[in-house]
Amino acid sequence: MVSELRQAATAVRENAHAPYSGFKVGAALRAASGTLYVGCNVENVAYPEGTCAEAGAIAAMVAAGETVLKEVYVIADSPMPVTPCGGCRQKLAEFGAAEVPVIMATLGGEEQHTTIAELLPGTFTVAHMESQG
Ligand code: THU
Repeated sequence: MVSELRQAATAVRENAHAPYSGFKVGAALRAASGTLYVGCNVENVAYPEGTCAEAGAIAAMVAAGETVLKEVYVIADSPMPVTPCGGCRQKLAEFGAAEVPVIMATLGGEEQHTTIAELLPGTFTVAHMESQG
């Protein structure tokens, strides 16, 4: 249920460590088992060491022994629904099929529905690495 994902992403967003940007993000994933995994952005004084909410949720899923995600929800206190950054799009594509729904939301209640394929056209996959020799 999307409302369950929204609730989980909204709650974990509160724990974000975002003292530098002031921009807290929460993410919730539903994995193949049905279990929800959550993550928030974790910034660092050495700015490039910060991690996104989506990356945290993916790490939690993999640490729990799951590698297939079926639904993604991302929320922030933004004027328009927050979209996963380029790196997170690639990370989502590693574990989710092309048609997996990604719901991007604002705290204000706006939601935008897309898919992993729409977010990352021309995805680099393992097929590109097949040897021709
Ligand atoms: N951020 C996320 O966690 N997820 C997104 O989808 C967009 C950006 C974080 C990274 C950084 O901590 C802050 O938002 C500002 O870029």
